[in-house]
Amino acid sequence: MERGTDIARAAAAIRRGGLVAFPTETVYGLGADASRGDAVARVFAAKGRPTGHPLIVHLAADAQLDDWALEVPDAARRLAAAAWPGPLTMILKRGPRVAPATTGGADTVGLRVPAHPMAQALLSAFRGGIAAPSANRFGAVSPTTADHVATDLGEAVDYLLEGGACTVGVESTIVDLSRGRAVLLRPGGMPREAIEAITGPLASADLGAPAAPGTLASHYAPRAQVIAVAPEAVPREVAAARGRVAVLAPASAVLRWPQLSAITRTLPDDAAGMARELYAALRDLDADGVDVVIAALPPAAGLGEAVGDRLLRAAGPRRNET
Ligand code: TXA
Ligand code: MG
Repeated sequence: MERGTDIARAAAAIRRGGLVAFPTETVYGLGADASRGDAVARVFAAKGRPTGHPLIVHLAADAQLDDWALEVPDAARRLAAAAWPGPLTMILKRGPRVAPATTGGADTVGLRVPAHPMAQALLSAFRGGIAAPSANRFGAVSPTTADHVATDLGEAVDYLLEGGACTVGVESTIVDLSRGRAVLLRPGGMPREAIEAITGPLASADLGAPAAPGTLASHYAPRAQVIAVAPEAVPREVAAARGRVAVLAPASAVLRWPQLSAITRTLPDDAAGMARELYAALRDLDADGVDVVIAALPPAAGLGEAVGDRLLRAAGPRRNET
């Protein structure tokens, strides 16, 4: 697999119907031409992802929303103006430039204008929409560095654009605006509070729209067993755990437990720092051969909601890897 920083070359690969892994501010994506069914079929194959599971379409900052979505409600236009470029995906009625295969046949599409300068340079050079899931094998932890992508997908990718470590570190927030009221399908890099300032209170997925297919309880799971608990419960869980045990917690919390008989992997104390380092930490612990990760859940405010969501999903019932 070729890797580097050559935007023209990456855009040419997409134009040929190939696969390009590229950095966004959230996680690395595995991109293909969103208007070509044959190109997006290669994305599903490379990831080992079921073809009914829709991809997000990434757009340049100057793209016309109405080319990619139909019946765009006013709230979506306001949210787009406030949040893009940034870590927000909006689900809208699918527009004419999106290949049906990109959305797994669904009549809705997830749209996002990423903020990473390299993603924007690629989108501007290509002059189209790029369908991209996170650039990991289906069910695994999302990649936040180019090396993570190379480890997971290697030869399946035609070109890997290298853009350093992702600054947000968890996937975009997904809001469904296709059915009348705004529904939060996945907490993510844009805090709920910032969205609600524009849309009003967000409904929960379980109250209205069907959940995003990718929000399976056991998504985002590392190999190790994850136990996600309130910080106070961490020492008790360590005492009860068997095997090679690690604690994943903010540095200030770990300082309070000098006697802990476990490997410790500290995260920054602030929620944004936790989000930024979470996936790399889970990958490091897997590489260390850890059997059990006991993770301290942050308060559910700001980016803490997304961090807690990913930890709880990682701790959820395991499903068959595909
Ligand atoms: O930050 C992100 O969103 C990253 C970067 C690369 O942009 N992408 C990402 O894609 O996380 P992926 O495919 O790993 O997760 C996208 C989620 C999936 O759970 C998918 O089911 C959901 O978005 N989704 C996409 N289109 C949808 C649609 N039309 N309706 C409901 N859910 C949708
Ligand atoms: Mg993913």
